[in-house]
Amino acid sequence: MRTQIFYSFLFIAFALVVGGSSDAAPKNDLEEHVLTLLSKWRQGALETSLFTLPSIKTISIPPISVKYNDNGINIDLSAQDISLNGLDSFVVESLNVLETPDYLDVSIGFKAAKLTLFAESYKLSGRAFLLITLRGNGAATIDVLDGALQLNIRVANVNGESTAVGDVTLSYTIGQVKANLEKSTLLINDILSKQGPGLLEGLQGDLVNSLKEWAVPLADKYLAKVTLNEMSDIIADLAVNSTVIV
Ligand SMILES: *[C@@H]1O[C@H](CO)[C@@H](O)[C@H](O)[C@H]1NC(C)=O
Repeated sequence: MRTQIFYSFLFIAFALVVGGSSDAAPKNDLEEHVLTLLSKWRQGALETSLFTLPSIKTISIPPISVKYNDNGINIDLSAQDISLNGLDSFVVESLNVLETPDYLDVSIGFKAAKLTLFAESYKLSGRAFLLITLRGNGAATIDVLDGALQLNIRVANVNGESTAVGDVTLSYTIGQVKANLEKSTLLINDILSKQGPGLLEGLQGDLVNSLKEWAVPLADKYLAKVTLNEMSDIIADLAVNSTVIV
């Protein structure tokens, strides 16, 4: 009896762990192929007959410079030699692909339990509640917990001859931030951890725009060679025949 209870607990614990980190179930072939592509990408760089996607295990981020002034906190923060780790642990929480004669709509909800931003060098100056001076420089580690990202893309038919990105929206939310800035005055880590989600969500407009400026022309270059009719076959081909380079 006791053993049985023990095994029941074990099973429930296992189900929670697995269930908590598994992807959304695909509802049709097209969604299954999109999911296959994403889960292959999670494993390393992805080489397809059309393009190569870089690995997302570690991503280098260009230097940042942020001014934050809210809730009585005034911060000037700059950082360089930044890398982002943990993106490859994403889970596809929701997936909807809709195909019509005029467009293909893909909407994906991603979740990541923990992303880590590491900067070799940061510099911070500021003031809290008018009185407290904030200052620091050195290396910084910032853990971003419970991030969620929603991506919606419409690929539109262009005269039956090609396709193009019609519309993209991208938005994210962040559950919690844990900052560890070395050589900083007292309170900075506390303040940044507290203001972190707001601060990072405040960067949303800039981040999303620079991502769009980079990704949409790139996608359009490939889409110019593909008609909407061919799209689902191509996605199937990419999913099945792409290879992961670890
Ligand atoms: C994968 O590639 C082979 C060889 O080019 C091709 O015959 C097959 O149709 C492809 N698979 C899919 C699902 O497109």
